[in-house]
Amino acid sequence: MAQSLPQKITVPLEVNGEARQVEIRPADTLLYVLRSHLGLTGAKPGCLNGDCGACSVMVNDTVYKSCIMLAVEVAGSKVTTIEGLKDAPIQEAFIKNFAFQCGYCTPGFIMNCQALLKNHPHPTYEVIKEWLASNICRCTCYEEIEAAVMSVMKGERP
Ligand code: FES
Ligand code: FES
Repeated sequence: MAQSLPQKITVPLEVNGEARQVEIRPADTLLYVLRSHLGLTGAKPGCLNGDCGACSVMVNDTVYKSCIMLAVEVAGSKVTTIEGLKDAPIQEAFIKNFAFQCGYCTPGFIMNCQALLKNHPHPTYEVIKEWLASNICRCTCYEEIEAAVMSVMKGERP
């Protein structure tokens, strides 16, 4: 006889350096839990199928699309959202380079750029292009986003 899944489970998460416990359904996505249970609304729902990157967060040092990841998968891992990057140079570089227009895609792009700089401290232009291809901006400010990454690489401060 098939066993039924538990309605709710308690999952320990470490988000932006803070230990949290959340009571969730096994099928809840990380994006849903961040926004609805933890009040972290920086990661945005866009396509909800892994294409646009608006929901990007970092798990340990790897960037993931939180709309297609279950919250239970990250139990015990370090999750960083845009709220956890408030003093990161890449945030300031986005402002200095006007690397956004409406801003909806911006948290996802910043998370992706932060992961890029962690994994490739001196990326070539081709690597930057390839890395940014996983996120979509409908306002088309890709050149300014690339300029923001370059300015952080060069150690420029606003
Ligand atoms: S909302 Fe997650 S990739 Fe688009
Ligand atoms: S700034 Fe508007 S979607 Fe990217």
